[in-house]
Formats: sequence, structure tokens, C-alpha cells
Amino acid sequence: MVKRLLSPGAMSKKVIVTGGAGFIGSHTVVELAVAGYEPVIIDDLRNSEERALEGIAAILGQAPTIHRIDCNDAEAMRRMLKQEGAVLGAIHFAADKAVGESVTDPAKYYRNNIGSLAVLLGLLREHGVHDLVFSSSCTVYGEPASLPVDETAPDANATSPYGFTKVACERLVRDQCTAVPSLKAVLLRYFNPIGAHPSSLIGELPRGVPNNLVPYVAQTAAGVREKLRVNGDDYDTVDGTCIRDYIHVVDLAQAHVRALQWMSERQAPLCEVFNLGTGAGNSVLEVVRTFEQVNGVKVPFEVGPRRAGDVVSVYADTRRSWEVLGWRTQRSLADALRDAWRWQQGL
Ligand code: WQD
Repeated sequence: MVKRLLSPGAMSKKVIVTGGAGFIGSHTVVELAVAGYEPVIIDDLRNSEERALEGIAAILGQAPTIHRIDCNDAEAMRRMLKQEGAVLGAIHFAADKAVGESVTDPAKYYRNNIGSLAVLLGLLREHGVHDLVFSSSCTVYGEPASLPVDETAPDANATSPYGFTKVACERLVRDQCTAVPSLKAVLLRYFNPIGAHPSSLIGELPRGVPNNLVPYVAQTAAGVREKLRVNGDDYDTVDGTCIRDYIHVVDLAQAHVRALQWMSERQAPLCEVFNLGTGAGNSVLEVVRTFEQVNGVKVPFEVGPRRAGDVVSVYADTRRSWEVLGWRTQRSLADALRDAWRWQQGL
């Protein structure tokens, strides 16, 4: 490997991206490169596929560096950091995120999601890396007492072991920032990421039957699934179905680039949390209807029982992300559903 020798004083543009071959990770790797950073992917491909790496390379015209290692493997991570040399920051996506699986196998979720973060934090400290972006989730809010939900809302009401790993990880990052005054951290609470890159070269690759709404809708429209089951239509909402804040994955990816820039403009100590959503709530049936309208397809569905653990309605208060971080979404629900369909047609 030809090592890039930095001229004295030149700032490294390398960013460690754990889980960089995943759905949000891959889109963030692309946006980092487009913004002039040098993303270094850390991913053992347990929850992602080679296809994602091929798609990133096709978009960028070259393959970013990838280390196929487990983030829990401290020795392998230490060797990687030594090999990479000067690093500007790290974005930690690597985690298990299937809400249902976290209920049946909580030990796996607590071990992997909290353990991998603890390993990373120790190594960033050892290696003198000061800027960390952590992938968190609106799931920490549980069922918010008021809507839109802002970052001051209670953040320990998660309704699943997965959600509680995010609560625990946020607390771990805050404690590390207290212990390590040179550490700067941004906690990004994602609402519902959907869609795909407009090139259709990267997108969501759910394994098996999708848990999430939009990939299931797309597969139903494509005939991969016979019909969508709507999980309950007797909630106290506009049409009886649950409401979420669906955010285009490219908007979400660009928020990570903005977070790195924002941290570089500030001094440590720093530990801030931001909602990443559109600020708009849409029901399940509104998503289905919009998908049909923008794509000119039909999505057969039936109404089934409520899904355990579902919150009725959650969508973001986006003021702080715009007023403090200087980021807001630029793409619509229709844009995301159009990109999701185009991506599905190429699968
Ligand atoms: C949305 C709505 C379902 C499938 C997700 C991720 C979680 C977190 C937050 C990042 C619910 C309904 C779904 C189906 C349906 N993201 N639905 N039929 O539950 O908000 O959580 O976003 O951390 O990791 O899981 O998203 O897409 O699963 O469900 O009716 O076949 O769609 O019941 O009301 P959710 P979702």
C-alpha cells in the first residue's frame, strides 16, 4: 500500500467509519469523500454485503480503504489505527439494530453495541483521535410526552433492548467526554432513514424479510412480497396507523459531514446531541399512498394486529439541528420513496 505522506502540519483528512458498508454507513462514506475527506471503512460485513463496497467504488471512481475487522477486536483495531497513522475523526455506525431480535437476544445487543463502542473509545484515546460522531436513534425517546420531540425530552424511555443500548451508549460517550477533556463528540439521533442514493448504486439491503416499512413496501410493489401487512389501524392518529419521521438517507449522511465540520470549528470539551429528522410526521398509509403515487405502482396491503413495542407517533423538533449544527433536510418523502423504488428495481 502506498502510504500518503502528509506535508508537515497538514491536517489528516482520514475519517474512520465503523460499519461503513452498512445502509447509512455506505451513504456517509460517499458524502465524506465528496466533501474531500478520506473515509476508512471498518466493517466485517456481518450485516452488509460486498455489493455495497462495489457501489461506493462505482460512485466515487475508486474504492476507499477497508479493513475487514470486528470492532470488538481491540488488537485488530489497534493495528489498524497504527497502520492508518494520523486520523481526523471517527464515525461509529457498527451495531446490531433489529428491534425484534434485540428482544429475543438482548445479550448479543448489549455485548456488541456497547462493547464495540467501549473498545473504540479506548483506542481513540490511545491514538489521540479527538472527534467522534456517534450513531444514535430517536428510539431513546420511546413514546414522547409531546411532539415534535426535542433533544431535552427524557432519553431513557426506549421500548426495546436495542433502544436501551443506544441510551447506554450515549451515556458512555458523555462519561468518556467528562473523563477525557480533549474528546469532542456529537450524538446524532436518527429518525427513520429511508431511500437510496440517486445513482441506485447503493441502498438498503435488508437480510431476509424486511422489518422496516419502506423496504417491505418496495418489495411488495416489486412482487417479491405478496402484500404488506399494516401493523394496526386503530391508533389515535389521522388514519389509525402509526406516525414516523421518514428522512432521506442522503440527507442523513450529509448531516454526518456537517457534524465533523462543526466539531472542527470548536474546542474541546464538547458533547452535543442533535435530532436528525425532517420535522414532519407521516402515517403508514400516507407512506403507502405516496409510494404508489410517485412511482405509479400498486402496493397491496391488509391490516393486521398492532406490533408489540411500536410507539404511536414520533417526529423531530429540528430547530436545534438547524440553529446550532447548521443542518436541515433538503429532500422530501416523495424523493426518498422514488429513490427507494428505483433501487429496488435494480435488485
Ligand atoms: C415504522 C412503522 C410499523 C413494517 C426503525 C428502526 C429503528 C430506528 C427507528 C434507527 C411502524 C409499521 C412496518 C411492516 C408496518 N432506527 N410497519 N408493516 O419501528 O419506527 O424503527 O426506526 O435506529 O432501528 O427499526 O420503523 O419501519 O420498522 O416501522 O405496518 O411490514 O411501520 O409497525 O408503525 P420503526 P419501521
